[in-house]
Amino acid sequence: MKNTKGIILAGGSGTRLYPMTAVQSKQLQPVYDKPMIYYPLATLMLAGIKEILIISTPVDTPNIERLLGDGSQWGISLQYVVQPAPKGIAEAFVYGKEFIGNDQVCLILGDNLFYGKLDFLRNALENNVGGTIFGYRVTDPERYGVVEFDDHGNVRSIEEKPKHPKSNYAIPGIYVFSNEVVRIVPNQQPSVRGELEITDVQLEYLRRNELRVEIMGRGIAWLDTGTPESLLEASQFIHAIEKRQGTKIACLEEIALYEHYITKEQYLQHVQTLPKSSYREYCLSVANEI
Ligand code: DAU
Repeated sequence: MKNTKGIILAGGSGTRLYPMTAVQSKQLQPVYDKPMIYYPLATLMLAGIKEILIISTPVDTPNIERLLGDGSQWGISLQYVVQPAPKGIAEAFVYGKEFIGNDQVCLILGDNLFYGKLDFLRNALENNVGGTIFGYRVTDPERYGVVEFDDHGNVRSIEEKPKHPKSNYAIPGIYVFSNEVVRIVPNQQPSVRGELEITDVQLEYLRRNELRVEIMGRGIAWLDTGTPESLLEASQFIHAIEKRQGTKIACLEEIALYEHYITKEQYLQHVQTLPKSSYREYCLSVANEI
């Protein structure tokens, strides 16, 4: 399998969640029983990505680093880089250039939650040539990047938050790009709102005839956390499944063990260090079942 570096973009101003975000960044807000950033990190780990860069603001990066550390407790490597100002999602490939090296890269936004079978992502990592993005049917596409298809399923247009969306297919915040992306972005011009737009990166791959758009099927839940209401709904969703199944979604310890990133001995050693909590109890119960 091609080596893929992962980037979690976890900066931005989070103003829509004010006052919750006055002193604590959006990606550290709870989604039911874990900080939000656990979920995108779990997604990357479950897709087999073990080298991950986290990009956030000057104020929030130290807090995220305090939460997640260097990743060795989960058998992965976590690095951190500061984005001085929120000048666009595509800046991830500017600040991430050195980290990406010669590999392809999977970028996930720190506020995007995916639940379900991740084959769509593993397939994309395996088969990506230029860029692979996804289309997900929603009722409110005007809030997102929107992709329009022609009758043969080819991409006809990609637009960022269009007032009059040409389709119901939003583009979720998870993207796979070839190493070319580190050369594409520096040639981009900022948009009218002064940002390096992720949709412009997609359009450049489209222009080169190297963009694949895969439909993310109904079996995947893509949850939004952008407003107080959608954040609550995401918590309720996670709660409902965890309560029904008696399992946890995005328990990073469990994933590390399951993916053989750490041995059972390492797992138990680490779990012993966790504070007494239902999270620790769960981790201990997982060890007894394996
Ligand atoms: O959620 C998927 C959508 O994400 C896509 O459909 C859109 O094409 C894409 O532009 C983006 O739209 P958003 O409205 O969600 O973008 P927002 O500016 O809110 O940024 C998304 C996350 O990335 C947010 O948690 C903050 C972080 N971010 C954003 C920018 C612009 C950064 O860390 N740095 C930045 O410079």
